[in-house]
Amino acid sequence: MFSAGEKNIGLMIVFILILASIGGIIQIVPLFFQVSTTQPIEGLAPHSALVLAGRDVYIREQCVSCHSQMIRPLRAETERYGHYSVAGEFVYERPFQWGSKRTGPDLARVGGRYSDEWHRLHLIDPRAVVPESIMPGYPWLENRMVNVEATVTNMQTLRKLGHPYSDADIEGAPAMLENKTEMDAMVAYLQSLGTILSARN
Ligand code: HEC
Repeated sequence: MFSAGEKNIGLMIVFILILASIGGIIQIVPLFFQVSTTQPIEGLAPHSALVLAGRDVYIREQCVSCHSQMIRPLRAETERYGHYSVAGEFVYERPFQWGSKRTGPDLARVGGRYSDEWHRLHLIDPRAVVPESIMPGYPWLENRMVNVEATVTNMQTLRKLGHPYSDADIEGAPAMLENKTEMDAMVAYLQSLGTILSARN
């Protein structure tokens, strides 16, 4: 039966697909059941409304095109950025912002590295604080208010996907977002990045 595959290209394609899928399944399926890849690390909570709103701005502005959020377990990386990233830190990240391009530094543990004021100045005009920077400025974040409705809908959707938001978290979101600019949200998001594991170092 298998020798038929050598003469029939259609059958050959089917055999190759079956074989490749077996290999794929063996590699991928266990990841869905391993505690280290599915359980949040201790102390990890889903993003607050403000942080989530900031994350949405981060996605919209495509910061991922220059910044990764994934520290590899290599000496050069951990010396520079801190503890390497672990899967359990990303359980509440949908979609991931791991990225692969590092025109700028990795941001996985940038939380707490600078003051809020530094981030504001840097986001408005990066060269005001880092003269040699090639990062573009994002001054409009100061003038735009966060989208309350979109953030609440986002939280409701994420809850359906298993993020443990309580009713109080969702009902309290509009109050938390009141009078907040996109800059406030972005700074809150950046300050939240990677702090749980870096505090353990
Ligand atoms: C064109 C590439 C580019 C884009 C797009 C970009 N950055 Fe940057 N970013 C850089 C470079 C280069 C640096 C290093 C120089 C500096 O600090 O300004 C940097 C530095 C940073 C730092 C300081 C990191 C550290 O550890 O010192 C933060 C925080 C940051 N960027 C946030 C952002 C955010 C948020 C966005 C999206 C709104 C963004 N960046 C978009 C290139 C970029």
